[in-house]
Amino acid sequence: MNTNKKLRSQDWFARKDKDGIIYRSWMKNQGMPPDHFDGRPVIGICNTFSELTPCNAHFREHAESVKRGVLEAGGFPVEFPIMSLGETLLKPTAMLFRNLASMDAEESIRGNPIDGVVLLTGCDKTTPSTVMGAASVGLPTIVVPGGPMLNGRYKGQTIGSGTHVWKFDEDMKTGKMTQEECEFAESCMSRSIGHCMTMGTASTMACMVESLGLTLPGAAAIPAADSRKKVMAQLSGRRIVEMVKENLTIDKILTREAFENAIKVNAAVGGSSNFIIHLTAIAGRIGVDLKLEDFDTLGGKIPLLLNLMPSGKYLMEDFYYAGGLPVILNELKDHLSKKVITVTGKNHEENIKGLTDCYNEDVIARYGKPFIAEAGCVVVKGNLALNGAVMKPSAATPALMKHKGRAVVFETIEDYHARIDDPALDIDENCVMVLKYVGPVGYPGMPEVGNMALPKKILQKGIKDMVRISDGRMSGTAYGTVVLHVSPESAIGGNLALVQNGDMIELDVEQRKIHLDVSDAELEKRRAKWKPPKPAATRGYVSMYIQHVTGADKGADLDFLQGNSGSVVTRDSH
Ligand code: FES
Repeated sequence: MNTNKKLRSQDWFARKDKDGIIYRSWMKNQGMPPDHFDGRPVIGICNTFSELTPCNAHFREHAESVKRGVLEAGGFPVEFPIMSLGETLLKPTAMLFRNLASMDAEESIRGNPIDGVVLLTGCDKTTPSTVMGAASVGLPTIVVPGGPMLNGRYKGQTIGSGTHVWKFDEDMKTGKMTQEECEFAESCMSRSIGHCMTMGTASTMACMVESLGLTLPGAAAIPAADSRKKVMAQLSGRRIVEMVKENLTIDKILTREAFENAIKVNAAVGGSSNFIIHLTAIAGRIGVDLKLEDFDTLGGKIPLLLNLMPSGKYLMEDFYYAGGLPVILNELKDHLSKKVITVTGKNHEENIKGLTDCYNEDVIARYGKPFIAEAGCVVVKGNLALNGAVMKPSAATPALMKHKGRAVVFETIEDYHARIDDPALDIDENCVMVLKYVGPVGYPGMPEVGNMALPKKILQKGIKDMVRISDGRMSGTAYGTVVLHVSPESAIGGNLALVQNGDMIELDVEQRKIHLDVSDAELEKRRAKWKPPKPAATRGYVSMYIQHVTGADKGADLDFLQGNSGSVVTRDSH
């Protein structure tokens, strides 16, 4: 289908007036031939490259591959940078800036002569931020995930990014590993270009965009260092030109059914709990009504089909060799909606023809023989989380999924760090660790501190897991019986703020219940004495963020960013 519709870039480049001179002439200083302005599709390549985002540091090469594809298909490629969010370096947390980067992507796409956009994404927040931005504009959009690192290898052992950081930290605390050994191991862990190669948030986001239909088939799992990644980038460059001609805009792809498919696929791959917050935020931009409970009702009964760390034993490289996401899509085919359209113009079932062979059933299981029968993230509710909290059962200890214990409360992250390894801390393995003020407003930015490391004295007993509760998030590479995203959060007066040492807390995952065993009357007494914390900032973006961020259950987007504004800009710059 070719609509022969006049492209929006022509509102810049086809002008016969003074503005036309301005729009064309300065572009020509880059050596662009006159025929590039003749009405061919202009393709923006939104590059999240940065040396401060190591997971995306190879993206200049990918951009070149995309450009090659765009040129081959008769388009005019223009690469542009946006704010890049590096998960490992950016303080206080990259999540604080996800919405800011999404605004950067949105306004950069809308304000420029672009007809279609390719999003180069990798590290955790670079995928949701760019997709949120693109969804708020509504042009044809394709995502090229940057690809995971190669498997980590240390002393003959396979090690996974993130997942082994927590293990090494525990081993250092218990004296099983020296500082010198740890520094050698960290080099072995990050030995190639690419993002975290566990099923952490970056891999989860790559699978998310593929299952939403925003990538070419099979794109998510290809390692960054594999030459086929560049081929995928080039083919995506060719395809986006066709998408512009077909007017295949992102809103036609991101339907309610596409989101439902993504939730089911996320459960099957054992994706990060961060998936919930990012998918909800994307849905808010495109106008799809997604509720926290949808993640449980749609994904809760889906079996775990992928044996990747942190839930399992393999890594993304193994996933690719076993067949990648098309195999998972095939195994789930009876559960996925066919009423979707992907960037190819076809649905998943049509896309994956010829890509469905599984080459290693220890990595990707058959639907009837899963690694875990029910794997999706679950939503628990109760007086401790009136709007809900989430947890990932596949990363938790089965025996702790129904547990009642005495609360040991950390009032802030600093309080936690100061006291966690104090031998005098009154705690045992049956206690429930509670961390306050790490939500969107409280920290601010909702960092990945919810998987608090256990006290050294408990680790030394050989105990690896305890129930932990907070209004923060957890790294997708982490594991444990961890209740996250408690909403409303403590900083705005949620009941989490009122928990005191010694209160009894009951978690019952089967009943989807989280209950603070304190009477309503006592909670009201405590509320009367409670004072909100001082705002973390009084100026700049952070001040705006804390005034406008929505709860975790709504995706922690800024309230005024929900929805979209289309691609029309009516006024010229001169
Ligand atoms: Fe970038 Fe994990 S730190 S993906």
